[in-house]
Amino acid sequence: MSIAVLSVASECAPVVKTGGLADVVGALPAALGAVDVDMRVLLPGYPPVMAALAEAGGGEVVLQEDDLFGGPVRVLDGRVAGILMLVVDAPHLYDRPGSIYLGPDGRDWPDNPERFAALSWIAARIGHEGIPGWKPEVLHCHDWQAGLVPDYLAQRGGGAGTVLTIHNMAFHGPAPADRIDRLRLARARYTAHGFEFWGHLSALKAGLTLVDRLTTVSPTYAGELLTPDFGMGLDGVMRDRRAALSGILNGIDEEAWNPATDPMIAPYDRPAGKAANKAALRREFGLPESKGPLCVVVSRLTGQKGLDLLLEALPALLARGGQLAVLGSGEPALEDALRAAAQHRHVVAHIGYDEGLSHRLIAGGDAILVPSRFEPCGLTQLYGLRYGTIPLVALTGGLADTVINASPAAMAMGVASGVQFHPVSAGALALAIDRLCDLWEDRKAWARMQRNAMAQPVGWQGSARAYAALYRETARTA
Ligand code: ADP
Ligand code: GLC
Repeated sequence: MSIAVLSVASECAPVVKTGGLADVVGALPAALGAVDVDMRVLLPGYPPVMAALAEAGGGEVVLQEDDLFGGPVRVLDGRVAGILMLVVDAPHLYDRPGSIYLGPDGRDWPDNPERFAALSWIAARIGHEGIPGWKPEVLHCHDWQAGLVPDYLAQRGGGAGTVLTIHNMAFHGPAPADRIDRLRLARARYTAHGFEFWGHLSALKAGLTLVDRLTTVSPTYAGELLTPDFGMGLDGVMRDRRAALSGILNGIDEEAWNPATDPMIAPYDRPAGKAANKAALRREFGLPESKGPLCVVVSRLTGQKGLDLLLEALPALLARGGQLAVLGSGEPALEDALRAAAQHRHVVAHIGYDEGLSHRLIAGGDAILVPSRFEPCGLTQLYGLRYGTIPLVALTGGLADTVINASPAAMAMGVASGVQFHPVSAGALALAIDRLCDLWEDRKAWARMQRNAMAQPVGWQGSARAYAALYRETARTA
């Protein structure tokens, strides 16, 4: 018997994406379909989502609210990009241009608490009463945007089982405490054991304290979340809930990221096929020939990602004849610093968001650098593995779980697939870059690592089974 699951999220690739969350939410329905999970995705009706739904023939109205945080809401049932979706059509909350989280001033929309409380409210209603012909047995909530689901479900007297996946503990979804009533939350839960966080409401903490089961996106990050260094002030809560927590590693969409069939590159199925892509990349960016490896980065530009450390360690790469090509957008100071670094003829920075270029960089680069201070899972190192682009990563979170470090033992056994460094500092990164360049100069060792990387499993198979097992343990209908 298949199990019905409603995935509740603020982004879903390919329709609306700001980061890896969207990739994962978009990949899960197909991955889980293969292990007998009937998954639908509940998504806010931002303009691109409404447009995609309209293009797919519109949706059927399955649920309505006359007034949810200041306006009427309809829930539309439809199929977009092959994914069964329930779209929350609430123009007063979602019909806005630009970023899905930020206003034109670059700050969070002031009503973000209401915008995502509405998503959670609708999820809870569906978890309680279902929609015509379908009732979820599990509500799978993603990050703070779905953190209030268990509170709203409890108010209704329960329904589906609840799972919350933490993709990033850095974002708590805070709201001023005086919005408790407006957000239709129970005052009794405004305590240190509930959703109170230093005098504010925290949507993430609400979820962490009430959900049936908690997961995060790698086993190492699951352990890290119990510590003050990574718990972002919620490590105590995580320790309390340790028994409910597990780490399930993300996979990648193996169709979209398949070097043998990728329409955005010159396809290849052996490392040798990378040469044409590297040459094309050099031409595209006017990069001269060089002795060392061409290193690439595809990243949001935030403190999390450690690109300031990379800029500090950059001389180590250039001294070895290496090159750097970065694609990213985010914090203005980091964007400026990258532009400044790109004055060097062996450095390129493309500031912006560009799906096609991300494929060309990962196909054409020799190595992909991910020097994150913390990384719940990380996807670009997985793309790197699949494309034979050697990952050089910080030893943290999912980066620790997915790359086999070129230690002397791993090299002797011929199993290494990349390079890891620790601690996460510019000094350690510079040493790791040196190690990468040594490996690069040893052509046989490098070729072996490329073959290992391309053979490493990075799909959803194992993790889909893990989620399915978790859903079965959590499933409930009343
Ligand atoms: P995070 O979710 O923390 O940003 P992940 O590595 O999990 O990190 O996922 C990032 C996703 O966003 C990947 O699919 C990556 O290719 C993509 N990405 C990030 N920045 C850009 C960009 N500037 N252009 C295109 N894709 C990007
Ligand atoms: C978050 C994390 C990233 C993870 C992604 C998908 O954005 O920063 O490490 O891969 O979510 O789970």
